[in-house]
Amino acid sequence: MARKATNKLLQKAKKSKSDEFYTQLCDIESELQHYKAHFKNKVIFCNCDDPRISNFFKYFSRNFEGLGLKKLITACYREQTRDLFNTEEDQNGFYLEYTGKEEADDIVCFNGNGDFRSSESIELLKQSDIVVTNPPFSLFREYVEQLVKHDKKFLIIGNVNAITYKEIFKLIKENKAWLGINLGRGVSGFIVPEHYELYGTEARIDDSGNRIVSPNNCLWLTNLDTFKRHEDIPLTKKYFGNENEYPKYDNYDGINVNKTKDIPSDYSGAMGVPITFLHKFNPDQFEIIKFRKGNDEKDLSINGKCPYFRILIRNKRIQTKSIDLTEKEKMYNKALHSDNFSAALQNCR
Ligand SMILES: C[S@@+](CC[C@H](N)C(=O)[O-])C[C@H]1O[C@@H](n2cnc3c(N)ncnc32)[C@H](O)[C@@H]1O
Repeated sequence: MARKATNKLLQKAKKSKSDEFYTQLCDIESELQHYKAHFKNKVIFCNCDDPRISNFFKYFSRNFEGLGLKKLITACYREQTRDLFNTEEDQNGFYLEYTGKEEADDIVCFNGNGDFRSSESIELLKQSDIVVTNPPFSLFREYVEQLVKHDKKFLIIGNVNAITYKEIFKLIKENKAWLGINLGRGVSGFIVPEHYELYGTEARIDDSGNRIVSPNNCLWLTNLDTFKRHEDIPLTKKYFGNENEYPKYDNYDGINVNKTKDIPSDYSGAMGVPITFLHKFNPDQFEIIKFRKGNDEKDLSINGKCPYFRILIRNKRIQTKSIDLTEKEKMYNKALHSDNFSAALQNCR
């Protein structure tokens, strides 16, 4: 019930376009510690952040020297609609460039509202190397599309459901984006403004008086390499001998696997796995074939029933093994024609 309520809250944020979920410093530290090598000598752009309150700004300015940053640009959007919660006069957005000097650089006003899609903000984007932020939930697709269009490196927070957006899945399938280190409960919660109701059993007010909600359904999306992408998923199960545990789909030549840990090590064909697989995905071990749909472009089904979204994958290592065998065969043939047949044969065993 509590989880439902918090999901509802995020959905509400999505619909209302208010998007005011602020990232906690602890969650930023916990993720960004894994990317330190990427930041060296780079211009970082936080383009959905008010430097006066953003913990992304706080993290990068505090660690500016330690990370060896070249520059930090932080741009703040100012919504131009006046309502119950925003009674200020229309104001322009603004940005701050930080180069590590003790005295803060001046704030520069945009001519417009500082929308990340505005030409002024895009100008700053062009000068940057890596974009790091938690962008508005409601504009996530557009936000990522812009980063890709400008060929930028990025590390951003999104909702887990973003994986199911066809534009985002396409990037993941093509190895142009992948999941970061923390996911779900690994992102501990967001600071919300006064006018947000505190939903869920994990909602709390922290020692500094920040109001926190924990939707537990967020991820980090990035195109910066991480150690995780190079770790194999340990495969302890077998398909052959346990065929009943892995039913075939009605509308695709592949087997259904309910949990990532149950992926069999001996199946070379297509396997449908839950989307949480992507958190453990190593592109050297597996290839992503397709999302969710069978040959008829309807949801994958087993005896007429559709399991929750599945991603179709294939184990690349099994294919590699058969190539190895061919190589061995080649060596064996070579040995047959060698002067010292038995020595050559030893080498190819
Ligand atoms: C999910 S909040 C996160 C804020 C901040 N990045 C953080 O992590 O604490 C998204 C922020 O994007 C801002 N925003 C909304 N629409 C925007 C737009 N079109 N361009 C730039 N920023 C926008 C909102 O004002 C809000 O502060």
